Amino acid sequence: MTDFLTFRTVDEMRTQVATWRADGLTIGLVPTMGGLHSGHQKLVTRAAKKCDRVIATIFVNPTQFGAGEDLDSYPRTEKADCEIIADAGGNAAFVPNVSEMYPDGFATTVKVSGLTDMLCGATRPGHFDGVTQVVSKLLNQAGADMAFFGEKDWQQLAVIRRMARDLDIPTKIMGVPTVRDDFGLALSSRNGYLDAAQIEVARQFNVILRKTAYDIASGGLATDECAKAGQAILDAGFERIDYVECRDAHYLELIDRVEDQECRIFAAAYLGRARLIDNHSVS
Ligand code: PAJ
Repeated sequence: MTDFLTFRTVDEMRTQVATWRADGLTIGLVPTMGGLHSGHQKLVTRAAKKCDRVIATIFVNPTQFGAGEDLDSYPRTEKADCEIIADAGGNAAFVPNVSEMYPDGFATTVKVSGLTDMLCGATRPGHFDGVTQVVSKLLNQAGADMAFFGEKDWQQLAVIRRMARDLDIPTKIMGVPTVRDDFGLALSSRNGYLDAAQIEVARQFNVILRKTAYDIASGGLATDECAKAGQAILDAGFERIDYVECRDAHYLELIDRVEDQECRIFAAAYLGRARLIDNHSVS
């Protein structure tokens, strides 16, 4: 931890990045909202393999939370987060406060249309506008060669790739496979809201989705198999389903019968205070 740097302002980060650049070093960026776990850690490890210097950002971005969501209770654990980043080979954390990111008079939005209308975009209106707003800023602020995002948030990754392409942001967007526990549950900062009994229920989520992906790949009609999966998720003990859908992996168009396209099954469901999301390849 001795050489680990913490930047609170954009200027501090840019000054250090300029120094690294002058030394001919490449820069990787790992945007996060903190509450870090092994999933985030893998992004940092991957970034450290690909780039000479790695900055992880920790910012609980208020503009991507809807009314009644968990903005206030979202885990804030900066010290532990910085240790995780350093252990994974990261060199610095950028930890701005809200007024550094959104100073008085801030008035600009960034919206990717189409890809944000369905899945989490349909049930969390405005969520992806907040994500693209903050990620476009972070990419511009750091000027990194590569930025790393998890496939756990597949739709987010698709939206960010589209935004970077559309706005000619030169940072290369890298996807990193989902990190899971020994039972296949995708790691998430929000799993911390679950008690031991709910974790057991949560672990059924990926089992059901994997079986559904297999059944669709074996010729089942996606709409039928997804409806069955929805019922199985409720039977397992989840309280409510947002969606279970089979979609094209890149354009996120609904698919009924899988042929040659690359498809994924996507699901979101509520359990206690947590809203869990996951996705699996159908192949
Ligand atoms: P956050 O939920 O903190 O996630 C930060 C990054 O970690 C995202 O790219 C997410 O996909 C990735 N991640 C989370 N859990 C993972 C897991 N189990 N395996 C692999 N990667 C995982 O996503 C956000 O923050 C925000 O929307 C952000 C992009 C930082 C913008 O505010």
